[in-house]
Amino acid sequence: MPVSRRGSGSVTLPSGQSLTVHHRTTEVGGEDLPHATKKTMADHLRKYESLFTLTPQRMRMIVDAFQDTLDLGLKQPGQVVPMIPTYVFGWPTGEESGDFLALDLGGTNLRVCLVTLKGSGQFEITQSKYRLTEEQKQGDGQALFDFCAECLRTFIEANFDETERQKGINLPLGFTFSYPCSQERIDHGELIRWTKGFGAANTEGRDVAAMFKESLAKYELPITLTALINDTTGTLIASHYVDPSSKIAVIFGTGCNAAYMENIGSIEKLKDLNLPTDAQMAINCEWGAFDSFQHEHLPRTKYDQIVDETSNKPQEQAFEKLISGRYLGEIMRLVICELIDDGVLFLGQETYKLESPYVFETAFLSLMESDPTDELLMIIGIFSHFFAVETTLAERQFFRALARLIGRRAARLSACGIAAIVSKMKYLENLKEGEIIGVGADGSLYNKYPGFADRVHEGLIDVFGDKGKSIVTHHAEDGSGVGSAIIAAMTKIRKDRGLYEHV
Ligand code: BGC
Repeated sequence: MPVSRRGSGSVTLPSGQSLTVHHRTTEVGGEDLPHATKKTMADHLRKYESLFTLTPQRMRMIVDAFQDTLDLGLKQPGQVVPMIPTYVFGWPTGEESGDFLALDLGGTNLRVCLVTLKGSGQFEITQSKYRLTEEQKQGDGQALFDFCAECLRTFIEANFDETERQKGINLPLGFTFSYPCSQERIDHGELIRWTKGFGAANTEGRDVAAMFKESLAKYELPITLTALINDTTGTLIASHYVDPSSKIAVIFGTGCNAAYMENIGSIEKLKDLNLPTDAQMAINCEWGAFDSFQHEHLPRTKYDQIVDETSNKPQEQAFEKLISGRYLGEIMRLVICELIDDGVLFLGQETYKLESPYVFETAFLSLMESDPTDELLMIIGIFSHFFAVETTLAERQFFRALARLIGRRAARLSACGIAAIVSKMKYLENLKEGEIIGVGADGSLYNKYPGFADRVHEGLIDVFGDKGKSIVTHHAEDGSGVGSAIIAAMTKIRKDRGLYEHV
């Protein structure tokens, strides 16, 4: 017997699409229609469980290999995980103050900020966001930087009056450019490769700081680019500015990466620079590249391989492709498509809407996992509204369980990365009673995916046992805005004092 019911609710997705689950649906019975039954779905789920589950033992093996990779990156230039020296020397004092501009070119938006640092870990921020178009991400690199300069000019016109502008706004600017760049000094960065689906031409292999300076000159902006910053380095410094227990910063968003503070004496590849070996410098790990090309250590399923091969950068960012928000929805879509092809799901229904790459957003996994209704109304809404297919309860329970497997694997792999830095730096060995290792974390997965942080913590306990409880992640301050401003301030102070001016 068909059953009718009602439900309602509305969400807006990161892509800007919105979903209102507000309908009367007729539930189809498993017996009389060719939908997958509870038993078939449970059988399939078992297969995916074994593919996507990471045992503690496997995690420890990954951590060991990861740690070796981090060590190698510090020794020799040009490694797969490049362990980039950032020329951010040590922690902020918390007393940095003044007005700074920050420009943040992330995965989705461009943001311009005016940050007033007030000392004692206090700050104020005014900001504007501009959405990046696909043409800007894939077009010409110089045009992308021209757009950045144009937005900066609009922001200055809106936030500074004529007299201030006449006097010249010469504020220091921190440019957060969240892609791997090898740096020879703090205001330089050669783009190693685009990630997160960007592909602007004539940019890889070039100094993006110089390209941006060219755009600043073109728009006659009286701004000094003081520092080129990665979002993780900004997050590291901003987290420590407000909470000195922070030792590591991680981003789990469209992309994924980490930064931490290293002793300069341990950065062997910098020895020719004659920097004081007892000082410290932040390292941007660019760990998203872990296990790229060789694929020796990570448990890649055939769905991960398809995601990789069909991406604009095959073989690259192997770790990131298993974890970050850009890819999780696509992994789930590929599993669903396989079950459609095998005649398990949606028999007799039109499924072409599920066939285009990347139509299945990672936000759907998040919504599925947090659906509070017994009948999984949110999941009904997702499939009917976006893909025009009807689902049975057994299928919806399967989708929810599948989302959980993919989300949980991402969190546990993320824990492996954090554990590798913690082991490498021997943080747990030197920990005093009651002390914690703070990890400042940011990004849409960390902030919005239900249970992501708890799963990272569980993973850390699986790797380290009870000691892992001392590693505590917390939502970080805005690293790309505030962190960038603090770094611009630290750099200005350092250069004014004549310290290591050549970098
Ligand atoms: C980039 C990193 C960045 C991370 C998080 C990765 O794709 O390579 O530079 O920190 O995304 O935004």
